[in-house]
Amino acid sequence: MLTIQASGWNKRKAENLDRTLAERYIKTVQRITEATKDLEKLTAELSLQQDTVQQWVSDVQQRTSGSSMAAVRRRKSPKTDAVEHAAKALDKTAELEVKYINSFKGRGVFAKAHFHKGDFVVEYRGELINSEESQRRRRTYHVKCTVFMFDFHWQERTWCIDAAREDGSLGRLVNDDHNHPNCKMKKVISEGKPHLCLFALRDINVGEEITYDYGGTDWPWRKKVGGPLTVTESSHADISRTKDQDPDRSTCSQNQ
Ligand SMILES: C[S@@+](CC[C@H](N)C(=O)[O-])C[C@H]1O[C@@H](n2cnc3c(N)ncnc32)[C@H](O)[C@@H]1O
Repeated sequence: MLTIQASGWNKRKAENLDRTLAERYIKTVQRITEATKDLEKLTAELSLQQDTVQQWVSDVQQRTSGSSMAAVRRRKSPKTDAVEHAAKALDKTAELEVKYINSFKGRGVFAKAHFHKGDFVVEYRGELINSEESQRRRRTYHVKCTVFMFDFHWQERTWCIDAAREDGSLGRLVNDDHNHPNCKMKKVISEGKPHLCLFALRDINVGEEITYDYGGTDWPWRKKVGGPLTVTESSHADISRTKDQDPDRSTCSQNQ
C-alpha cells in the first residue's frame, strides 16, 4: 500500500517538474522574441547596418571577457605574481612587447595589455653577483654594458644584478624616466634570493612605454633630452644604478 502511494507521489512530482521547466522555457523564449523585436525596431529607427550592430555585439563580448580576465589576474597579489614569475624566470610576454624607439633611446618595453596600479610588471633579470665581482666587471666592461649593472642593498651588503648579457629578457630593456615613471623597482625575495621587480605606480594603458626612475642624477640622456640637468632625489635610495665614467673599455665579456 505504502509503495503504491510513494510511486504515485513520485510520478506527480516528476510531472510538476516537467511542467515548471516547460513554463520557464516558454517564458525565456518569449523574452528573447520580445528583445529581438525591440532590437530590430531600434536598428530600423537608427538606420543601422547589421554589420555595425554585429561589431558592437562582438566589442561588448570582448570587453566583458577582458574584464573577467583582468579580475582573474587581480585575484593574485602582485608580490605572489612577482615571486612566481621570478621563480620560473618568466616574463609576461602576452602583456609586454619590445619595440625599437629611435637611435638615441634604442629599444623600449611597451604594454600590450592594461596594468592596474600596484601590479607586478616585469623582473630586471640577470646574474646576481656580489660587490667585489661587480667592481671587477666594471673595470673590464664597456660603458654601454655597465649601464646594465644594477646595484642594490640587501642584508647590509651591496649586490648587483648584471644584465649585460642579451638573454632575451624584457626587464633589462626598460628605459629611464625620472620625471613621470609609471613603475617602481622593488626587491622581492624568492627562494632566499633577492629579485628586482618593477611594479606599476599607476594604471598603465595599452601602448604606453614601461619606465622607471633609474635613480642618480647624471645620466647622459637626461641632459640631452631635458636641456639643463634636472637634479632629483632618487625615489628608491637603496636601489640605484651606478654610472661608469670610463668609455674606453670595449667589452661586455666577464673574462677580460
Ligand atoms: C638598460 S638599457 C635600456 C634598453 C636600451 N634602450 C636598449 O635598447 O638596449 C639603458 C640604456 O638605454 C638608453 N636609455 C634609457 N633611458 C633613456 C632615456 N630616458 N632617454 C634616452 N635613452 C635612454 C641609454 O642608452 C641607456 O644606456
